[in-house]
Amino acid sequence: MKHGKDTRLTADAWDELHSPRPEENDFDRVVERAISRRGFMGGVLAFGSGAAAMSAGLLGSSAIASTATSRFPFTPIAAQTDDAIHVPEGYSSSILVRWGDPLFSDADGYDVTEGGPAAGSDRVFGENTDGMETFSFRGHEILAINHEYANRETNLPAAQEGVPANADDVLKFQNLQGVAVVEIEETDSGWSVVKDSPFNRRITHNTPMDIVGPAAGHELMKTEADPTGTRSLGTMNNCGSGKTPWGTYLTCEENFNGYFGSTEAIQDQKPNALSRGHDRYGIGAEGWGYDYHKWDERFDISKNPNEPNRVGWVVEIDPTDPESTPVKHTGLGRFKHENAEVVLAPDGRVVVYMGDDERGEYLYKFVSNGVYVPGGSTEGLLDDGTLFAAKFNDDGTGEWLALTPETTGMDLAELLIFAREASSKVGATTMDRPEWIATNTHAIEAYCCLTNNKNRGLKPNAGGDETPVNGPNPRETNNYGQIVRWRPHGEDHAGNGFDWDLYVMAGNPEVYNNVYGGSENVTPGNMFNSPDGMAFDQNGLVWIQTDGDDSNAEDFAGMGNNQMLVGDPATGEIARFLTGPNGCEVTGLAWSSDRRTMFVGIQHPGGHWPDGGDVLPRSSVIAVKRDDNGLIG
Ligand code: FEO
Ligand code: CA
Ligand code: CA
Ligand code: CA
Repeated sequence: MKHGKDTRLTADAWDELHSPRPEENDFDRVVERAISRRGFMGGVLAFGSGAAAMSAGLLGSSAIASTATSRFPFTPIAAQTDDAIHVPEGYSSSILVRWGDPLFSDADGYDVTEGGPAAGSDRVFGENTDGMETFSFRGHEILAINHEYANRETNLPAAQEGVPANADDVLKFQNLQGVAVVEIEETDSGWSVVKDSPFNRRITHNTPMDIVGPAAGHELMKTEADPTGTRSLGTMNNCGSGKTPWGTYLTCEENFNGYFGSTEAIQDQKPNALSRGHDRYGIGAEGWGYDYHKWDERFDISKNPNEPNRVGWVVEIDPTDPESTPVKHTGLGRFKHENAEVVLAPDGRVVVYMGDDERGEYLYKFVSNGVYVPGGSTEGLLDDGTLFAAKFNDDGTGEWLALTPETTGMDLAELLIFAREASSKVGATTMDRPEWIATNTHAIEAYCCLTNNKNRGLKPNAGGDETPVNGPNPRETNNYGQIVRWRPHGEDHAGNGFDWDLYVMAGNPEVYNNVYGGSENVTPGNMFNSPDGMAFDQNGLVWIQTDGDDSNAEDFAGMGNNQMLVGDPATGEIARFLTGPNGCEVTGLAWSSDRRTMFVGIQHPGGHWPDGGDVLPRSSVIAVKRDDNGLIG
């Protein structure tokens, strides 16, 4: 994510700049780690160059067989650096919807390029599209989609450096983020939004929500405006998504800390009784420049210290009922949520895999107590259960550590609100920024993008936990990222044990001939950095989207713009399918119900894409199809 004035600064980098984590200064321990890292690298390298040995041991058929026949029905494309979308020959892309496009006729006059007024800004498609899911309902095609954050200068083009000058400016930011639910249709002229559809809805930073689950009503969740601790306003920094078996949309609150600030000095930013946990989540006096706290008291932590506790959750939305109240599920824990991958265990229990995207934070899993019965009640299935954090052993095994009052010494509500602290207490494995998790549609296994971590091996995480190189995070100063996958023991996602390996270590084989060159399935023809978005199609192929350095220079030379690739889990083969315009991140992926269209999100494009000329760049969703209208996943 990039935002506002510092358009080249990622959210994680912003946190690092404004809320610096403790420096590692114990030279002896750093050296010791470097030595043990070299020792362990032997094992990881074997994954790339000695796949047969690996496959005979831990992971059966997971070996990379580069000679296998490709299952990809296209010719991979080259890296690109221009201001356009590229797809393989035989495929085409078109725009489905752009930031500022009216969802209702009464917003027809809204003009983003001139900096539209606050009025009507909650009646248009929001900015910075991210996770999305499609729903087929009574013959209608519905798309639910996140608007992760607002580029301040783009949304307030008339303001000095995008700094809000009044409450209306802040309201505009609040309106252009959150979630959109829109009906879409395909006609002879292509895909478009059905304006004024009864399904169309905008959910913003001010939409009323219910808070349910074990932390609802807890003291830490109460504010002056909501003494019950069960009703909050808005969902924020909606990053990745999820879809339940019962047809609802899950939107995941990620870098929520950036919206909060303080109008009063906070003494040395030290934790106190009112701001417990604020440090760990990067909540401070300054915020990220949205300045909500100066114009909307709810975001002023000197007045409402518990308000940040009411964000950082997974929120469930019924896309078929625009009158429904979104629900925050506290059972799924509070952290910087990436996405929520829902899968059913063999006995029908609901398993939700979730990543916490910050350097050195953790990978999570929720397992429900109850079972899902089609058509039955779903109450409690995302709240009554156990939250776990992952522990990866260097020998290729791992286990899920339960976060309970017994294991953490925290009460249940507390350990959910401060899930990071709970995970630290049980000794979970610090990860290289867990982004999207996806489960294989053809095998009982899950994949997680570990996007990058420049601090790996160098600095502790925000909670002070050491982050030495470890099994799934094997490279110090990891600027390329990797994808870890695990296979639950007993073919049961609800179980505690698993085996893991790395599906790919990104890298640059033209610059490095060591581990920074990447695993064997990374070549000069498909290289990329910072895997982020990820989803499996119905053919069991995994689509990988990137949010990385697109400078195309030095360590990243030859990688070009951010892109979307497709991988074959069985062979390890990876091919480049799509490249985005320069400056963008490719994020969010969903298929039409007939699987003849793939919807792909283009977030924070640079330049003037897609309108060209002199106009502002506009985050958009594109529709990608085969020219012969064949299946595309
Ligand atoms: Fe919003 Fe971690 O990406
Ligand atoms: Ca982003
Ligand atoms: Ca992401
Ligand atoms: Ca990212």
